[in-house]
Amino acid sequence: MRIAVVGSGYVGLTAAACLASLGHEVRCVDVVPERVAAIELGQSPFFEPGLAELLSSALAGKRLFATTDLVDAVVRSEITIIAVGTPQGLAGIDLSFVEAATGSIGRALRDVSGYHVVVSKSTVVPGTADTVMRPILERESGRNVGEFGLCVNPEFLREGHAVADFLNPDRLVIGEWDQRSGDTVARLYETFACPVIRTTLANAEMIKYASNALLATLISFSNEIAVICEATRDTDVQTVLHGVHLDQRLSPVVAGERVKPGILSYLWAGCGFGGSCLPKDVNALRAYARERIVDVPLLDAVMTVNAQRPRSLVDLAEKALGSLRGATITVLGLAFKPETSDLRNSPALQVIQAFQERGAIIRAYDPIVTAEPDLAFPGLSSERHEQLLGLSGGVTLCATKEAALRDSGAAVLVTACPEFLSWNWEELCSIMRQPLVIDGRGALSDVAWPVDVRYLEIGRAPNPAFLSRALAG
Ligand SMILES: NC(=O)c1ccc[n+]([C@@H]2O[C@H](COP(=O)([O-])OP(=O)(O)OC[C@H]3O[C@@H](n4cnc5c(N)ncnc54)[C@H](O)[C@@H]3O)[C@@H](O)[C@H]2O)c1
Repeated sequence: MRIAVVGSGYVGLTAAACLASLGHEVRCVDVVPERVAAIELGQSPFFEPGLAELLSSALAGKRLFATTDLVDAVVRSEITIIAVGTPQGLAGIDLSFVEAATGSIGRALRDVSGYHVVVSKSTVVPGTADTVMRPILERESGRNVGEFGLCVNPEFLREGHAVADFLNPDRLVIGEWDQRSGDTVARLYETFACPVIRTTLANAEMIKYASNALLATLISFSNEIAVICEATRDTDVQTVLHGVHLDQRLSPVVAGERVKPGILSYLWAGCGFGGSCLPKDVNALRAYARERIVDVPLLDAVMTVNAQRPRSLVDLAEKALGSLRGATITVLGLAFKPETSDLRNSPALQVIQAFQERGAIIRAYDPIVTAEPDLAFPGLSSERHEQLLGLSGGVTLCATKEAALRDSGAAVLVTACPEFLSWNWEELCSIMRQPLVIDGRGALSDVAWPVDVRYLEIGRAPNPAFLSRALAG
């Protein structure tokens, strides 16, 4: 099929490259010319395993094109997928990018002769396709829906696994204006073996929010248990949650083998969730409910618990060091989760800010977020720097773990990047000013720590003997 994808970010570009790999002819559109130029050169504007390879092969096979010319892309296509951002606005979801893209697509539909389906992959609150997008499309195209199709096809990919998730989805959700719209979109994925839910536009919109709200709720639930463990002698949240995971309703034993479903990684304590989706989607759903005079105390609590987590990590460091004023702190991991360079709403940024407010000097190291200008998309690099350097006092982004840890007063792990587990911690601790490691993700608990290293993790009541020693000395 011939497809236009409007918005070439994490979702749009991944969808475009994957759909091209399935044999479709895809035109990805963006309003940022540097992003389009980078894609045309086969460079992914962000780090995502496997994406650059798919991109190069699709470009070489002339199955993928990048352009700023939305009208041309829509006119040459049978389906237009909207994948622009839906950030958090002041009073709920900000639909301005969706509205602008929909308006342009509607105007382009005037030049389309055949049947064409407009699909939202952007995460939008229930009713958006019907009450926001449809009127814009009808007004701008001069046609009634039915003459063109309208669908909502929410995306469930996870950054860091985007390509694999897109190509092997758990389920496909197709919200459809009418059967013809849905049939057209279903053809895109006809080689996929997963369950397909064909439903109303609003159900499809709501399924995405309910899914993300569940994940956020599991994380905040785990973090609340961590807080209780921190105040309880002889408990640690890791052991407690491991005991919870072994409930066979959560991890069934099949043919003698225990299956560990991916959902268990959300039943895990840490220093909070971030990223471009969970916080904004839970907040969008809360705002949507409020507009309907519906109370959502559970979702409110999910965000309240989450907001406290980064600060609780800094409290742990302060208790250990006595005072943070003038202390050099090394923050390990900046992206909101491993295997991505995405800093949007990353807990690391809040941790850094809280440390700085208490007078600490911050160094940071992340295996993927680097100080190097991002050749593929120079704009990203300045965005990263703005986010980092916009914090009072600045942050020294180190190129190596040694530079980050030499003479440091504490290493604070914020993102559980896999490479941290394989480091020679004995050697690294020996170059620190004092060997204090604070683990905000419970990721290093299996490391055999040398006796002189003080290792503290969230969700564990601090050893009172250690604390009094630390405060005394
Ligand atoms: N990132 C994720 O992991 C993820 C997962 C599932 C769903 N989503 C949802 O998908 C949507 C997109 O998210 P993202 O992370 O890919 O966003 P993003 O910010 O990475 O990309 C959005 C892109 O759209 C472009 N754009 C904005 N207005 C445009 C217009 N009028 N015409 C053409 N291009 C335009 C921007 O320049 C940008 O490149 C959001 O609604 C998000 O909630 C994201």
